[in-house]
Amino acid sequence: MSLNHTATSFSIGTIPINGRVFLAPMDGFSDLPMRLISRQFGSCLSISEFINSIDIKQGHPHLIKQITFSETERPFAYQIFDDDPERMLAGALKLRERNPDYIDINMGCSARNVANRGAGAGLLKDPLKIGRIVESLVKHLDIPVTAKIRLGWDVTTLNYLETSRIIQESGASAIAVHARTRKQEFSGTAKWDAIGEVKAQLNIPVIGNGDVKSLDDAERMMAQTGCDAVMIGRAALGNPWIFSGSQRQDQSKSELLRVIEMHLHLNVEHYGKIGIVLFRKHLTHYLRGYLTSPEIRKHMYSITDESELFESICNLVNQPELPEKS
Ligand SMILES: Cc1cc2nc3c(=O)[nH]c(=O)nc-3n(C[C@H](O)[C@H](O)[C@H](O)COP(=O)(O)O)c2cc1C
Repeated sequence: MSLNHTATSFSIGTIPINGRVFLAPMDGFSDLPMRLISRQFGSCLSISEFINSIDIKQGHPHLIKQITFSETERPFAYQIFDDDPERMLAGALKLRERNPDYIDINMGCSARNVANRGAGAGLLKDPLKIGRIVESLVKHLDIPVTAKIRLGWDVTTLNYLETSRIIQESGASAIAVHARTRKQEFSGTAKWDAIGEVKAQLNIPVIGNGDVKSLDDAERMMAQTGCDAVMIGRAALGNPWIFSGSQRQDQSKSELLRVIEMHLHLNVEHYGKIGIVLFRKHLTHYLRGYLTSPEIRKHMYSITDESELFESICNLVNQPELPEKS
């Protein structure tokens, strides 16, 4: 698969990107450990989980884990969200001090507590405000600014052509399009044709997103829409192999265990002991098909020691297959 190669594939402003497929930002998942693992398998850039500029202003204690990134991750972007343009700018300037390669603005989060206060996908209801936010960040930051949108608030207000045009005219260096409305959240199918429509009217790179479940899908999305790159979200959970063109279910048990051990260990390194608890959500995805009973899940999720947990995972994965019932 030639999607993620070493020659420059496209650029975000002045930042060359060596590849065309990467991990989508996912709150609670795409932290430093998951990004590092995804990069090992070929994800070509890193974007943080979305960061609330209110948390930046208040110096939220969780922030330090959210904003830590590794030099090996470059190109690296912080994604920021808010409904208040001035607070967002202040947050972006604060993040700029940590020297990311660019800043991405979240205009797609569908979560009620975000969208209903006018942040995330809530911004789609106010394209003029989108313009003001992008313009202000572009003006005050000396690194590229990008945005990630959805198609609109709902099917009656599909304004992706208007918002994407405003985003480009306001100086953004790229745009990512999750081809669903806010109302859809994650239901239905992503409308890839809309990504093609956005690409056709813009000059800046367009990153397609929604329902990509393999590198073949990514290639199909690029061929169908002309988009410059593709972001993969849910299909990468417990499945970093996707970035190298294979899938979790195609891996040997030893490869599955190797990656789980590495990810678990990175989690503990990054978060300390709580990293074991935080790993459970990843484990659910890595061990799909293995956590077959509430008892097994309960046992697995009660362990708070790293080696004990890994030993239990090994025992579960390596248990002899049960004979088929006749
Ligand atoms: C658990 C979860 C958390 C997410 N958090 C973010 C986020 O922080 N920022 C963002 O732009 N999108 C976020 N998204 C949306 C994804 O980036 C992506 O747009 C969406 O999942 C569609 O892509 P997919 O079909 O490949 O999953 C999140 C999605 C999921 C499932």
